[in-house]
Amino acid sequence: MVTQRVWSVALSGIDGFPVEVEAAVGGGLPRVQLVGLPDAQLSEAKARVRAAVLATGLTWPPGLVTINLSPASQPKAGTHYDVAVAVAALIAQREMEVVTSTPTVLIGELSLDGRLRKVRGVLPAMLAAARAGFERAIVPAGQQDEAALVPGISAWGAGRLAEVVDLLTGKPVVNPTEAAEASSPPFEGPEGFEPDLRDVVGHSEGKFALEVAASGRHHLFLHGAPGVGKTMLASRLPSILPDLAESEAVEVSAIHSLAGKQLTGLIERPPYADPHHTVTPVALVGGGTGELRPGAISLAHRGVLFLDECPDFGSKLDALRTPLENGTITVNRARHSATFPARFQLVLAANPCPCGRFGLAGMECRCDPVKVRRYQERLSGPILDRIDIRHQITGVNRVLMDVDADPGESSAQVLARVVEARARQARRLAGTPWATNGEVAGSYLRRELPLPGDLGVLNTALQRGTLSARGVDKVLRVAWTLADLAGKDRVSDTEVRAALLLRQGDLRGAA
Ligand SMILES: Nc1ncnc2c1ncn2[C@@H]1O[C@H](COP(=O)(O)OP(=O)(O)O)[C@@H](O)[C@H]1O
Ligand SMILES: [Mg+2]
Ligand SMILES: [Zn+2]
Repeated sequence: MVTQRVWSVALSGIDGFPVEVEAAVGGGLPRVQLVGLPDAQLSEAKARVRAAVLATGLTWPPGLVTINLSPASQPKAGTHYDVAVAVAALIAQREMEVVTSTPTVLIGELSLDGRLRKVRGVLPAMLAAARAGFERAIVPAGQQDEAALVPGISAWGAGRLAEVVDLLTGKPVVNPTEAAEASSPPFEGPEGFEPDLRDVVGHSEGKFALEVAASGRHHLFLHGAPGVGKTMLASRLPSILPDLAESEAVEVSAIHSLAGKQLTGLIERPPYADPHHTVTPVALVGGGTGELRPGAISLAHRGVLFLDECPDFGSKLDALRTPLENGTITVNRARHSATFPARFQLVLAANPCPCGRFGLAGMECRCDPVKVRRYQERLSGPILDRIDIRHQITGVNRVLMDVDADPGESSAQVLARVVEARARQARRLAGTPWATNGEVAGSYLRRELPLPGDLGVLNTALQRGTLSARGVDKVLRVAWTLADLAGKDRVSDTEVRAALLLRQGDLRGAA
């Protein structure tokens, strides 16, 4: 039996649920009323949809049109309901009759001339639709490939409302058109570009720190004088990270789709986000007007969040504490909130002081000591405490750089070792919620995994006060990664000692 029910999808973060759109036509003055917790942006659909229907040469119901979006208890935001609202009104007006017996989800904004506009979030909308059992969707033309990334969904692309009507009423589409570009701002997130480690001369220790960080997904802090290559090194971390697992690729792609990226395939490489310190809090953590959008910390989900010159981020760094703790961020607004995944690998870079010379041999810092302390304190405490590896980069002899010294290994060579180390972790952690040493809970590290036979090194560091209790877990995590890179099944005090050194490359020399 063919029902005349009309469906769209509501999104909340990267999750969503089907929304049924119904229209009822009554007498009285011509008016459109939208019920079912629409936000302001969605309420503007009334005028857009009516204009688009008229521009298509179809009849808009005279009198009062009531559009109901259910479930009514859930807030709904966004412009992608337009097509479903138009179709519901046309069915109520008996302008059209759906002939396809497969329930179809309708996604798309309408422009006043009856064209569809591309929208954000097609992938997460289709994931939600597929979970709810839908098999078919109509999306703006050009976005059907993104929709079809979801197994089980077959998607049609429509450029005009007239095409949507033809598709649903079983008529062939003549002269298919392209959809209009999205009305929301274009995607401004990270795009895939991976410079190679081979470009970096020297810095063998820095490269090793990067390799360890990549292997265990450990947070990393690089510090040193300006111009020594901190930014250069950090921006090469993605080039030694393994491809995302399929479930991660789906999550990452869904987030980027919500941010407005037009997808042609799943994003398979770990993303890299490097917001400038002048970034707005909304762009950093997410939010905004209308539909809530993911921020840089979510665009870095399952990838790298690089904060260069990190003391300059100031109090914005505090917003990272919760995501660092639980891997998600919840953005609240008056009527609704949304939770986005935000499990990123944090890489921080900083100069030792505002002028960059503090504590460096043979150089004189010109900063006011109070300013130096304040600069360093911005980093200390909660954020730096969560960093597993701290590394001071010292300058490379210019001569080396000028004579084109042996560039050392390429990213591909290092990546091969990282992949091996990741495989060892995956085997050891099979059956746990974690895949890498960087994520493992401290209690699991201490109770479920064999401890190094000799705890002497750790105990001494604890007694001397150079290691905090929380630091013990960090050191153990990194020690395991070092063992994984060395192909060992246990950590010994060799790895613990090395992990301690990696941990203690601190501004103040204490972990
Ligand atoms: N080890 C290095 N190998 C090759 N080039 C380097 C190296 N270190 C610095 N450079 C050059 O100096 C520039 C500044 O490096 P950068 O990474 O921005 O320094 P920092 O972030 O530490 O201030 C780079 O763009 C690069 O051209
Ligand atoms: Mg820099
Ligand atoms: Zn200084």
